[in-house]
Amino acid sequence: MGDSEQLIELRGVKKAYRTPAGDFYALRGIDLTIRPGEFVALSGRSGAGKSTLINLISGIDRATAGEIWIADQAIHRMNEEKLTRWRGRQVGVIFQSFQLMPMLTCVQNVMLPMDFANLYKSPKERVARAMHLLEQVEIAEHAHKRPSAVSGGQRQRVAIARALANDPVFLAADEPTGSLDSKTADAVFAVFEQLVAAGKTIFMATHDRELAARAQRIVHIEDGLLVEDA
Ligand SMILES: Nc1ncnc2c1ncn2[C@@H]1O[C@H](COP(=O)(O)OP(=O)(O)O)[C@@H](O)[C@H]1O
Ligand SMILES: [Mg+2]
Repeated sequence: MGDSEQLIELRGVKKAYRTPAGDFYALRGIDLTIRPGEFVALSGRSGAGKSTLINLISGIDRATAGEIWIADQAIHRMNEEKLTRWRGRQVGVIFQSFQLMPMLTCVQNVMLPMDFANLYKSPKERVARAMHLLEQVEIAEHAHKRPSAVSGGQRQRVAIARALANDPVFLAADEPTGSLDSKTADAVFAVFEQLVAAGKTIFMATHDRELAARAQRIVHIEDGLLVEDA
């Protein structure tokens, strides 16, 4: 491809889940282009296919058909081992339920992806980077607490810092504000806006149309098909 105007490119992407009643197509042919620096909201009702699409773009799951190109890499052609390595290095994922390790402190949670990717070699460098990321999301004062000792909004900030650990090419967020009250959700959304202003690319699934409307661009999914791109 070699076209720097597209960071993420999906062509005819389908995803079937095996069910006792036969294959169920959660995605039925998705074409989508996301440019570097875009903040794209993926809106749609529960069951529309948002998480499935997030999981494919972030390499958590594999497409049944179609092509997924990210930063000129053919994700759909990678074997399991290559995909795992690519994901650890190139993608930052943020979930509704934060998914922090409860036995680790906040700063240790942020360092964890660095330990796997081995990009920042010395432990000193990793601590410094993790603290810097926690400062960026304004949570550094809680760095040495465990996640259970901070609020939901603060946990999501830690999860965002963790997603940034290896300086990924994009962030994928699946209902990142779904567990938060509206004021806290606003503050987390503001963190995303700051990251986009600093040049990050974000793809955020949400069933909240009001929140989606505040992103730069909305793509709407219904029954496994994109129906709108505004
Ligand atoms: N592992 C699975 N096995 C079978 N069906 C699934 C599985 N995961 C999701 N689905 C189905 O795929 C559709 C899309 O699900 P999902 O991507 O989670 O939607 P959303 O995130 O928009 O709520 C739904 O009908 C859901 O029931
Ligand atoms: Mg979902």
